[in-house]
Amino acid sequence: MRVHLNRVTSGMRPTGRLHIGHYHGVLKNWVDFQRRYECLFFVADYHGLTTHYRNAGDIEQNTYDMVVDWLSAGIDPQQAVIFVQSHIPEISELHLLLSMVTPISWLERVPTYREQQEKLSNLDLSTYGFLGYPLLMAADILLYRSNYVPVGDDQLPHIELAREVVRRFNSLYGFEQGFMENACEAARKMGKKSFSLYMNLRTNYQEKGDKESLESARALVSEQQNLTASDCERLYGYLGGCSREILCEPEGLLSENSCFPGTDGQKMSKSYKNTIYFREDLAALPDKIKKMPTDPNRVRRSDFGNPDLCPVFQFHKVYSTSEVQSWVNDGCRSANIGCVDCKKALSGNMVEGQKLIHERAEPFLRNPELIRNILSDGCERARSIAQDTMRDIRSSIGLSTKTFLP
Ligand code: TRP
Ligand code: SF4
Repeated sequence: MRVHLNRVTSGMRPTGRLHIGHYHGVLKNWVDFQRRYECLFFVADYHGLTTHYRNAGDIEQNTYDMVVDWLSAGIDPQQAVIFVQSHIPEISELHLLLSMVTPISWLERVPTYREQQEKLSNLDLSTYGFLGYPLLMAADILLYRSNYVPVGDDQLPHIELAREVVRRFNSLYGFEQGFMENACEAARKMGKKSFSLYMNLRTNYQEKGDKESLESARALVSEQQNLTASDCERLYGYLGGCSREILCEPEGLLSENSCFPGTDGQKMSKSYKNTIYFREDLAALPDKIKKMPTDPNRVRRSDFGNPDLCPVFQFHKVYSTSEVQSWVNDGCRSANIGCVDCKKALSGNMVEGQKLIHERAEPFLRNPELIRNILSDGCERARSIAQDTMRDIRSSIGLSTKTFLP
């Protein structure tokens, strides 16, 4: 068993071309994470099917469009592992195994379950697959032994479910007679100095809930060269419980800025028809900005405005320099500038920014084979991690023991 301390995994359903709300809410963070963590980013096509099983024909094109967006945003296949969920057969196996130990009531009480059923009442979501949506997501996270999972706040209950499933799974399949003694014996194998450090860190974590101690203790264990996989599982497990740790508990990383406004001031979303695409048609962009509503109290050019009540200003905050932002802020409040000028400045800046994105997308659009290669390389890398995890899981459950394998 190889344990990682800084692996980040996240997925996106293949909804097709992304909009700038996705970029500012999610993608920008991914680009940042890939420099600091070992990252796995995947297209959650099975998750797409849980709701859109009637429109399965769109999945391939949507996957392609979305991955082109990721790459144009700066996700780098040299730094992050990029792949498609359904290309990894182990995901189905883990989902199945987790389904054996997950009470139905845990899934029924996940808030998104009823909410989405009501909201998307045209889709008929009274299916087995839809109920299992968060469990499949748990499998995505656990299969790669992920430590961190960047998500929006609506997805946090799913992370919590994954953590509960981990605890249940470990206590079921990591249980062993004489665990405490075995764990202490394993700790002694690290040598006197590391033994007492480990024990101190453990006490610190257990008595004071000090997370840093937990992380240091985990790091200490991961550095040991002479421990067996089972001993490592014992030492990780002993830090917080009384069973071996087969699967590790992930933590959610909440993304800020996940509520980027649309061109009408509501949250940007395809269903509100208020989006600007991440790779927007450069000719259409100024028109979309022109039609944006402004501060409702500023009816005439001579009225004083309040940029804080205007979605155009929210856009300036991410697309314009601080000088331009002050120009808008002062000019709007004193009625020295009109909304037309204000919007013109904005669309100029946005068009400039978009040119770069179109440039980056161009080679992938010209040669789709590039995307294929990136995804197949990513699949290979993700799969090797997945196979490693599944080997441990199968053996801890007692499936396919050596006696029966060919
Ligand atoms: N459910 C996530 C969403 O809708 C997508 C997703 C699927 C995901 N599997 C995941 C996100 C695993 C993080 C980790 O946004
Ligand atoms: Fe909005 Fe700009 Fe008009 Fe002020 S000047 S109301 S910020 S569009």
